[in-house]
Amino acid sequence: MDVTDEDQIVRVVSHLQAEKIGKLHLVINCVGILHQGKVQPEKSLRDINSDNLLHYFQVNSIASLFLAKHLLPLLRHQERSIFAVLSAKVGSIGDNALGGWYGYRASKAALNMFMKNVALEYQRKAPENIVVLLHPGTTATNLSQPFQKNVPAEKLFSVERTVDQLLKVIENLQLEDSGQFFSWDGTRLPW
Ligand SMILES: NC(=O)c1ccc[n+]([C@@H]2O[C@H](COP(=O)([O-])OP(=O)(O)OC[C@H]3O[C@@H](n4cnc5c(N)ncnc54)[C@H](OP(=O)(O)O)[C@@H]3O)[C@@H](O)[C@H]2O)c1
Repeated sequence: MDVTDEDQIVRVVSHLQAEKIGKLHLVINCVGILHQGKVQPEKSLRDINSDNLLHYFQVNSIASLFLAKHLLPLLRHQERSIFAVLSAKVGSIGDNALGGWYGYRASKAALNMFMKNVALEYQRKAPENIVVLLHPGTTATNLSQPFQKNVPAEKLFSVERTVDQLLKVIENLQLEDSGQFFSWDGTRLPW
């Protein structure tokens, strides 16, 4: 589905319910864009473009809110459930020492705020659920491909390694971790 289209999310959730899937235990939203066609990360203010900024926010920030809105009935049950969303360390305001990538950075910072809010609402409505934001580390995917040449080999993770590391972080989560922002090694990241 296109996660920016709320109707498509509603249809997928209805389909799950029609298939008698009443409970979900682990949801990981891995959708995100850094570059897509004409949308390219901005090097400076010269590159700022309203349509591109809106697109970053639609895909990287708002889509997770739609998912949170419509998945709540499936995540609200008596067993442990996780709603994890892939964020990015460059979305940390406290950690930003380089600048650039306006849309990507700001859309991930907005995602972090959105999910913190969701965590607080879910604590009341789905108390066994844990909502977290995860930074996967630089991983060899289509998203990082144009930027890999400056990354030392040991800091560029394979997809398999990243999946393994993030699943370990998820496995170790406690209820009090809900609403937090974790790196691939399980350490907390600054907002
Ligand atoms: N790779 C890294 O180094 C890195 C670092 C930090 C954070 N992250 C974050 O990790 C997450 C995963 O990134 P990745 O590296 O796996 O990137 P990726 O290989 O480019 O995968 C992103 C996925 O998102 C999908 N997508 C894009 N727009 C969508 C939409 N509107 N609806 C549904 N799906 C959509 C893409 O589908 P199509 O292929 O069909 O377009 C693609 O499968 C992202 O949130 C990214 O910001 C990645």
